[in-house]
Amino acid sequence: MQAGVIDATVLRPHAEQEYAGELARLAEHDDRPRPPGWRLSPWAVTTYLLGGTLPDGSQISPKYIGPRRLMEVAVATLATDRALLLLGVPGTAKTWVSEHLAAAVSGDSTLLVQGTAGTAEEAVRYGWNYARLLAEGPSERALVESPLMRAMRTGAVARIEELTRMPSDVQDTLITILSEKTLPVPELNTEVQARKGFTVIATANDRDRGVNELSSALRRRFNTVVLPLPDTVDDEVDIVARRVDQLGTALELPDAPAGLEEIRRVVTVFRELRGGLTSDGRTKLKSPSGTLSTAEAISVITSGLALAAHFGDGVLRAADVAGGIVGAVVQDPVSDRVVWQEYLETVVRERPEWLDFYRACREVS
Ligand SMILES: Nc1ncnc2c1ncn2[C@@H]1O[C@H](COP(=O)(O)OP(=O)(O)OP(=O)(O)O)[C@@H](O)[C@H]1O
Ligand SMILES: [Mg+2]
Repeated sequence: MQAGVIDATVLRPHAEQEYAGELARLAEHDDRPRPPGWRLSPWAVTTYLLGGTLPDGSQISPKYIGPRRLMEVAVATLATDRALLLLGVPGTAKTWVSEHLAAAVSGDSTLLVQGTAGTAEEAVRYGWNYARLLAEGPSERALVESPLMRAMRTGAVARIEELTRMPSDVQDTLITILSEKTLPVPELNTEVQARKGFTVIATANDRDRGVNELSSALRRRFNTVVLPLPDTVDDEVDIVARRVDQLGTALELPDAPAGLEEIRRVVTVFRELRGGLTSDGRTKLKSPSGTLSTAEAISVITSGLALAAHFGDGVLRAADVAGGIVGAVVQDPVSDRVVWQEYLETVVRERPEWLDFYRACREVS
């Protein structure tokens, strides 16, 4: 496939494919200094993330909605010799931001290592094509690069997802890479020296802390940026509305106008349950066990839109989101159900303008 041409049948194009137009326009207008190995200047990378208008009037859509300073710190970190760790509770756009940063800085967001309990050292360093290894012995040709090794060789951004899920000894192989910027290959008596532009963006979930601690030696090699949950209802409604709009277009859902009122209601329910307090500050609530983040709100609305478009009258209504909300809230069939019933009867029921929603929830609860 030709670079920059999107295959419309791909379910989810990479950021650098989907936003190739914006990236090209930014590069065109970008006359600020670019750090070695970067496709864009830090200013342009930040504009790509936060959105803006270029001198010729063309629009850059915002990818991340939140404090500008956080993105500036993240981008500035990448221009130093330190790696970037994006930390936060689930659903705060850590993965999303990491993908877009890699796309904007090196034009490639695919050099990705997914951290799991089973991640082996080969996934971080290199492995071998065993057929070749047996036939020819250790050689360059038999070596299988990890995404990290490729990033070092080409001077690009490597991404590590869920860093703290990797076993500690695998995490520790990163220490040499990050401090010496080389990856020795003793079997071939060589090493790969990182080129300028190489850096690492890792994400970790602070809910999962304790899965595997990040060693202090490794932590010192990262600058940490904590991505927060949205400050206000309005911010969160804005994020959900934008993402739902983009997703709806990408999934080619029939046009169903995403009712802002319905989005606001979902976001309000999630914020109240998450925070353990009603929005007027009067009633304390129990919080359910699951995460009710912006990401869950986005998926509840998207599923609601599919329901409205295919089975309803095309307008997003309470009945289209009720099932999704209950499913998101009630993760533990016993304790969460109690929390939900209490919320439904003491809060939802008391709001006259929420009557349709109350009824719809009663039907699916
Ligand atoms: N502040 C925000 N700005 C823009 N999009 C956001 C924001 N917060 C959440 N989202 C959206 O939420 C969705 C989920 O984000 P993402 O998967 O990056 O979360 P995460 O922090 O990596 O979660 P996890 O810890 O579960 O991996 C994305 O589609 C993203 O667009
Ligand atoms: Mg993630």
